[in-house]
Amino acid sequence: MFERLREDIQSVFHRDPAARNAFEVLTCYPGMHAIWIHRLSGALWGMGWKWLARLVSNFGRWLTGIEIHPGAKVGRRFFIDHGMGIVIGETAEIGDDVTLYQGVTLGGTSWNKGKRHPTLEDGVVVGAGAKVLGPFTVGAGAKVGSNAVVTKAVPAGATVVGIPGRIIVKSDDEQQAKRKAMAEKLGFDAYGVSEDMPDPVARAIGQLLDHLQAVDGRLEGMCGALKDLGSNYCAKDLPVLRDEDFAGVKDKDDSQVG
Ligand SMILES: CC(C)(COP(=O)(O)OP(=O)(O)OC[C@H]1O[C@@H](n2cnc3c(N)ncnc32)[C@H](O)[C@@H]1OP(=O)(O)O)[C@@H](O)C(=O)NCCC(=O)NCCS
Repeated sequence: MFERLREDIQSVFHRDPAARNAFEVLTCYPGMHAIWIHRLSGALWGMGWKWLARLVSNFGRWLTGIEIHPGAKVGRRFFIDHGMGIVIGETAEIGDDVTLYQGVTLGGTSWNKGKRHPTLEDGVVVGAGAKVLGPFTVGAGAKVGSNAVVTKAVPAGATVVGIPGRIIVKSDDEQQAKRKAMAEKLGFDAYGVSEDMPDPVARAIGQLLDHLQAVDGRLEGMCGALKDLGSNYCAKDLPVLRDEDFAGVKDKDDSQVG
């Protein structure tokens, strides 16, 4: 249980630059309180204590302004920033690392029983005030712009904005591919280094990779020119970055955390 709590708190640090320490997150983040209350109401719902589950869920709504039906399925590291005015319907399914901002509705468009609310796959971000309505899937890593109204499936990685929601063509696919290639060249795990992550550290690393790529290109040009002039200065290999070096850093970090 404490492990899960720690994971929840870490997910806030990753996605909200305003978060300063664990105590602040524990006490001042209604999004976290709503998720913890939902874990309780969801467990009661699963045990067949439907009325009690609804009561606990309603208490959570009263406390946080966030209404999560006890039947909704929620993955790990779910983060609701600011909260207030959020509604998550009974048959909604939410993957891991999903972020919702205030005023989001994951709702239905029919009164039929059965699946009528959306499924958000891993890493989806839904902007403030957006409404996602219907039993379709928003693919992994997709972003829904603030105040969009989405009523159709969204492919993985896409960004959808407006009313009705339309997919905006992204021009940074090539840039992402270049960053990935540079990260791999460095032996660096590019996971999370994407413009799609609202994380200032990931953004900064992305910018560094772009800069490294430009420097790399210029050095290769200079080496070519030196070679043409008869120099073998660039014949020497650069030191290789090994996986173990990164693992060493990670182990050290882990030991500090514990
Ligand atoms: C949709 C979103 C994810 C796009 O971010 P992005 O990938 O960086 O895209 P850009 O900002 O470059 O915008 C791309 C285009 O979409 C438009 N756009 C962006 N967000 C939009 C929105 N919510 N509604 C309508 N159009 C939007 C931009 O004007 C731009 O149009 P243009 O190409 O004609 O100039 C982002 O704008 C957004 O809404 N994020 C939610 C953030 C939020 O809710 N924060 C709350 C904090 S309290």
